[in-house]
Amino acid sequence: MVDDVERAVAALRAGELVVFPTETVYGLGADAANARAVQRLFAVKGRPADHPVIVHVARASQLGELARDVPDDAHALAVACWPGPLTLVVRRDPARVVAEVTGGRETVGIRVPDHPLALALLDAFGGGVAAPSANRFGRVSPTTAAHARADLGDDVRVVLDGGACRVGVESTIVDVTGTVPAILRVGGVSRATVEQVIGRACVLHTSGEVAAPGTLASHYAPRAHVEVVEAAGVAERARSLAGAGRRVGVLAPVDAELSEPEAVVVLGAPRDAEDFAHVLYARLREADERELDVLLVVLPAGDDGPAAAVADRVRRAAH
Ligand code: TXA
Ligand code: MG
Repeated sequence: MVDDVERAVAALRAGELVVFPTETVYGLGADAANARAVQRLFAVKGRPADHPVIVHVARASQLGELARDVPDDAHALAVACWPGPLTLVVRRDPARVVAEVTGGRETVGIRVPDHPLALALLDAFGGGVAAPSANRFGRVSPTTAAHARADLGDDVRVVLDGGACRVGVESTIVDVTGTVPAILRVGGVSRATVEQVIGRACVLHTSGEVAAPGTLASHYAPRAHVEVVEAAGVAERARSLAGAGRRVGVLAPVDAELSEPEAVVVLGAPRDAEDFAHVLYARLREADERELDVLLVVLPAGDDGPAAAVADRVRRAAH
């Protein structure tokens, strides 16, 4: 494992790309201070140049190295939530984060991931690592090394395998550059936690204008058509679709008590919202592997934290 981290650090220093695990999803990393490496990152990812990527660092003290005018809210959130699934959007220091990372924006998203292999890599590398999720643009985020390899193939030589990601959906993004902190993407850290830490309400800015480019379009969609249904309506909907010759799958919490017809493929039964988030992307990939036409999804109960993140990603996939 030490060898692997050394190899990954050497690759980053040489301007190459590295796939590494985080607690949310796998990242495709490049040296955030190397414009050419970041350009290659965008090319391999197939991502438009104006979509900013998140910079990953080993510790909260690096916030002050990469950003300017860091507000108290940011320091408080960093202390409370890092390492963890929270990204802070702050003002970029142009000397430390090249403009290519942020699509020319004056702000940059920064986070300290909570995964031992990611932290070992970031610590040994020392600087910031720019990393979007390690999937090709428009595909479902990878939550295992095998998913990332399947998407990126030979374009990336160094892949650090840290097992299945614990959280399973991308980080919560909080923009602290305005007068009121704004949540741009819901994820592993709940809104309640953010508000408790900063001691006041924040706004939810996850739809409408493109606050965090890349969260709007159907970026979380498998090939199968995704439909959100109530538990009580699953059986009837599945029967009618199956009757019309469609291959139907169901993803629902274990307590949903379905009475689906036999022809339906049941894709696991997550125990609770956390477990749902943990398995969600693997199940979306499985829907495609099984060549399902339609995936019926019953959302987990709850309206914050993992339940909100699952609902957000599933609704985007269903778009
Ligand atoms: O959990 C995560 O955040 C994962 C892991 C690898 O850390 N990363 C991730 O990256 O999801 P990506 O590139 O797939 O999504 C990053 C999101 C995009 O929607 C982007 O628009 C937003 O973060 N973002 C990044 N920098 C931003 C900025 N300066 N202002 C607004 N949004 C920003
Ligand atoms: Mg992504």
